[in-house]
Amino acid sequence: MKKIKVAIDGPASSGKSTVAKRLAKQFGFIYTDTGAMYRAVTYLALTYHVPFSDEQALVELLHQHPIEFKQTQTEQQVFVDQKNITDAIRQPDVTNNVSEVATHQGVREALVKQQQLIAENGQVIMDGRDIGTAVLPDAQVKIFLVASVTERAQRRYAENQTKGILTDLDTLTKEIQQRDHIDSTREISPLKQAEDAILVDTTGKSIDQVVQIIAEYIQQAL
Ligand code: DC
Repeated sequence: MKKIKVAIDGPASSGKSTVAKRLAKQFGFIYTDTGAMYRAVTYLALTYHVPFSDEQALVELLHQHPIEFKQTQTEQQVFVDQKNITDAIRQPDVTNNVSEVATHQGVREALVKQQQLIAENGQVIMDGRDIGTAVLPDAQVKIFLVASVTERAQRRYAENQTKGILTDLDTLTKEIQQRDHIDSTREISPLKQAEDAILVDTTGKSIDQVVQIIAEYIQQAL
């Protein structure tokens, strides 16, 4: 079996992490959610009262409080200062500010380096916004996952309900559109389909169907 890297990119709530986790389990690969890293920096900024616009201070925060992952094959737990922040980084105060934090070159450089180290030995499925274009341009399988904004908002709404987060559907739709806009228009490594990525539209498809489509591409690459 070849040692391969799988990149899954796409906009907010397009189903990347659900699908990537399932595929990692199926193939015995390491799963890495890179959005969690940008969320962890945002969490640090909120905790230490660093403005989201202060690139230098954000980079320093990252040096002082390195983000650590505890990886299992299907789960990725996130720690800073020895504290498990896996749930805290999903709260709305982080979600609504992470796109601004992710615009900074210094922040991206530090995190991309960490992501490339994790993927070094292959057998990895990494999801994010710039994996196929910037982090792992040599990935053997590149998927660009999309879904209509209405369906993405509905998915996020259902997911939030299980976590006790109460935001109405209209607000969620606007927040997702706002995040898509910042993520795809930023100067450095914007959200964009890599030229050699396969477009998979998940609108109206079940998780099982999407997993099966991507699993076939992975199987072919192995
Ligand atoms: O996948 P997510 O919603 O958890 O990502 C949170 C934010 O992090 C997203 O709005 C943009 C940023 N991000 C990024 O810029 N590059 C990545 N590879 C992953 C996420």
